[in-house]
Amino acid sequence: MNKQLTIALSKGRILKETLPLLAAADIEPAEDIFSSRKLIFDTNHDHIKLVVIRATDVPTYVEYGGADMGIAGKDVLMEHGGAGLYEPLDLEIAKCKLMVAGMKDAAPVEGRMKVATKFVNLTKEYFARQGCQVDIIKLYGAMELAPIMGLADRIVDIVDTGNTLRANGLEPMQHIADISSRLVVGQPSMKMKHAVIQPILDKLQAAIDARREEVA
Ligand code: ATP
Ligand code: PRP
Repeated sequence: MNKQLTIALSKGRILKETLPLLAAADIEPAEDIFSSRKLIFDTNHDHIKLVVIRATDVPTYVEYGGADMGIAGKDVLMEHGGAGLYEPLDLEIAKCKLMVAGMKDAAPVEGRMKVATKFVNLTKEYFARQGCQVDIIKLYGAMELAPIMGLADRIVDIVDTGNTLRANGLEPMQHIADISSRLVVGQPSMKMKHAVIQPILDKLQAAIDARREEVA
């Protein structure tokens, strides 16, 4: 059996919270990920490597077998659609909400609503489920600016404290989903490498449970 295992980590906001969980599962990078320009890292196990990539690329790597497992936000996974992935663990980190928002006290939209977002697929699906046809404007960041500049009537974005919305005169309007980071496993990897993956899942689950009890 091929026991080599590659885990894809999202760089950016969730990496800092990811590393202590991996450490609790006895997986530690051989060098400091934050001060290195490397993209692939050895670990304390000869058979486990970490790759550190854009959050949005994690499900793609795992879907196509470029990595066996990965860690990404549920928002990113919803946008990807989940093809070829199992999602066995909610890591309960980077918790936030996916919301529809607009200018505070905005008048109801007449005609077809324009929605700015980087989550094109999930936004289409959300409004379609409401029986609402919308025009979607794809942006790559700073969604909150779009209604201010008259580019869109609404945005679909991540909301945590609500500070970014408030600071820009916007308000949350509809709740689409609760978001946290998830561990995903490629379906072929789960089958072929189950013997090395399952103990990691068990240790991660124990670490998640222990942390939940600590917080409670
Ligand atoms: P990229 O850099 O590839 O465009 P990104 O900017 O969305 O991705 P991050 O900002 O690092 O990446 O966010 C990673 C994940 O963290 C998101 O997919 C989401 O699940 C979660 N997240 C984003 N913003 C917040 C926030 N304000 N509070 C808590 N979690 C957040
Ligand atoms: C995220 C998100 C919101 C903000 C929400 O942006 O896109 O703008 O956090 O958090 P809040 O409700 O606590 O203000 P981020 O800071 O990751 O910047 P980005 O535009 O680069 O994604």
